[in-house]
Amino acid sequence: MTIAQIQEKIRALKKDRDICVLAHVYQAREILEVADYTGDSYAVSVCARKSPSGSVVMCGVRFMAETVKLLSPEKTVYLANPEAGCPMADQLNAARMKAAMEKYPGHAAVCYMNTTAEIKAMCEVCVTSSSAVKIIGAMDNPNILFVPDCNLGAYVADRLPEKTIRLINGGCPIHAAIDAGDVAAARKKHPGALLLVHPECVPDVVAAADYVGSSSGIYDYAVKSDNREFLIGTETSIAEHLQYACPDKRFYYLSKRMMCHNMKATTLMDLYHCCAGDGGEEITMKPELAASAKRCIDRMIELGG
Ligand code: 13P
Ligand code: SF4
Repeated sequence: MTIAQIQEKIRALKKDRDICVLAHVYQAREILEVADYTGDSYAVSVCARKSPSGSVVMCGVRFMAETVKLLSPEKTVYLANPEAGCPMADQLNAARMKAAMEKYPGHAAVCYMNTTAEIKAMCEVCVTSSSAVKIIGAMDNPNILFVPDCNLGAYVADRLPEKTIRLINGGCPIHAAIDAGDVAAARKKHPGALLLVHPECVPDVVAAADYVGSSSGIYDYAVKSDNREFLIGTETSIAEHLQYACPDKRFYYLSKRMMCHNMKATTLMDLYHCCAGDGGEEITMKPELAASAKRCIDRMIELGG
């Protein structure tokens, strides 16, 4: 069957089985085309609540499906490919989090969305790359323990000098692997291009950028900009999607190493099987864990808008 035929089958299954499909913007184009909502990790998590559908299929990684379940416990939530995890979220377990909290008493524990429900349950509030500065800036406590991404944490600390922000070692292995040498090489090759990067990149890369923002922030900036060429410093899919959206502009990878195999794990056929009821994984959670973790996400929505 062709991609278009499978997409038609998915559209029919969504209607027949009352399914809403969410896709993070790092997903493949053929998946984004059949999704009901697409966006960065903040947007896709909160969008499910708007949908009247009883079932939600998340095309993205596990922490995103967990967040959807926390926000919409009455819905049946599936992760389209159960193998799609996030190495950053997997870096931090409860014991390490407890040790960090004991090391920094009196600090408000703030976690990135890229964490497990267990870690969210231990924190006051959760943030995403598009909301971190706003949310932490709005908190009363000037002392913050931010986990697990030390690069996003350093970016926030730089913009909120009035806060004392403690960090732990952790981060995205894809974004954090890029350094100032990669920036210099890419700038030399494409001297007219604007450099747009994600705050999960290391501080040297962030400091060299013309724009810093979330995955959809980068996308929107490039679409609206009058510039014709861009170096995209986030997962390679964003450069690919932008090329379709703006055929007269040129988009280059900051580095071809910026490819997340977990984000690429979900295929159109995974989505098809999940919608057909013979694939994916239903996300379930103990009620006490869900209640504690939800508080942290509710607070994010309250402070982030
Ligand atoms: P955002 O969608 O918030 O930019 O996060 C990027 C990411 O790493 C998702 O895995
Ligand atoms: Fe996790 Fe990084 Fe992949 Fe996002 S890009 S899913 S943070 S490993």
